[in-house]
Amino acid sequence: MRNTTLYKNLTNNERDIVEIELARIGVSLPDNLLDRFDDVITKRGYSSRSEGIRDAIRSYILNYEWMSEVEGERVGIVSVVYDHDQRGLMNTLMDIQHNYSGVIQTSIHVHLNDDNCLEIIVLRGDSTNIKGFADKVTALKGVKHVKLNTITPGSEL
Ligand code: NI
Repeated sequence: MRNTTLYKNLTNNERDIVEIELARIGVSLPDNLLDRFDDVITKRGYSSRSEGIRDAIRSYILNYEWMSEVEGERVGIVSVVYDHDQRGLMNTLMDIQHNYSGVIQTSIHVHLNDDNCLEIIVLRGDSTNIKGFADKVTALKGVKHVKLNTITPGSEL
């Protein structure tokens, strides 16, 4: 049994190290995604797939937390890579963009290859709306990559 007082005083990273109650999860992944993940963790010298997955989850959380800290009037550049054969996805993406037409300034569509499209969407407005848009797109099935960059449109540039 862990010493709870000691445990409370640890940072999150330290808690990860001493954590003894590991949760086991089962995840369904396409073979090619797992192969590519294994390639990366091998190149980076990870000792186990689990450690790579733990780091990937930490990065995902940090990215979300970073996005949550963006506030106020912003210009947002959202890059989206998605599978254009995913049923209904292109229509849903279009519906979302229409819902955010008040903040979307422009978009570029690039047909990357037989399967994938890249869309770059530039938004300007309150960061809540920009993040809301990026979150909605990220959660869609068939969307493989979303990157949000923001810049301030203000005089501090
Ligand atoms: Ni396309």
